[in-house]
Amino acid sequence: MAEIIIVRDQAEAGSVAASIFAKQIIANPGTVLGLATGSTPLSTYAALARAVREDRIDVSGVRGFALDEYLGVPPQHPESYRSVITREVVEPLGLTPDQVFTPRGTGPDITLAGAEYEAMITEAGGIDIQILGIGSNGHVGFNEPGSSLASTTRIKALAEQTRKDNARFFGSLEEVPTHCITQGLGTILRARQLVLLAFGANKADAVAAALEGPVSSAVPGSVIQQHARATVIIDEDAAAKLAHAEYYRHAWRSAQDLNAVAF
Ligand code: PGA
Repeated sequence: MAEIIIVRDQAEAGSVAASIFAKQIIANPGTVLGLATGSTPLSTYAALARAVREDRIDVSGVRGFALDEYLGVPPQHPESYRSVITREVVEPLGLTPDQVFTPRGTGPDITLAGAEYEAMITEAGGIDIQILGIGSNGHVGFNEPGSSLASTTRIKALAEQTRKDNARFFGSLEEVPTHCITQGLGTILRARQLVLLAFGANKADAVAAALEGPVSSAVPGSVIQQHARATVIIDEDAAAKLAHAEYYRHAWRSAQDLNAVAF
């Protein structure tokens, strides 16, 4: 079972998540990061950027792989995930663009792009630590309900709910792409460590189903239950429908007490 940490707000979540990432980067300056887009990881990226500015971590040797990209959206489009990762991660952390990879959503032989991306991840030695959000419909990456638990990077149709949720980034719903290329659930499970974050009441059903429901392709986020090293960081609103929230709070407090007396 994942370690579940219920925090006050996104700022606290960002510093808890960033400290997990920082610890990993300090232990291995060549860490391969798994990067997510959307609103959820922003407070983590901001906290990591602060750590870089204050010289607490050196990210010159890290590499990053984004989870997904829209199909048919050129990299220079402001809402391509390449552009989002450049704005939210590459620039604030002072990385160079060649340290970060996104699946390609355009170009020839697009059906081969998934296998190409898998090969690039393997070539880099695999992802050490993956940050994840979860969609209101339970998706992770763009693995919509029904995705195979063993899937690898491939082209997928976006769910209408996802297109509606993401319309805020585009001028209108019509402008939201209909397809994407996304790391699969099998790809995500191969990352050596997972950190999933969720905020707000509209994530409460997805969080409860993913953490306490059956592991099922109907709730792609439920794959986190199969990972041996996973941390879930959520605010009170996203935690509202968890049956065992009191236990998770107790377990997290005890872990901190143990850390305080340890060694
Ligand atoms: P959000 O999206 O971070 O913008 O809420 C999460 C997701 O869809 O995976």
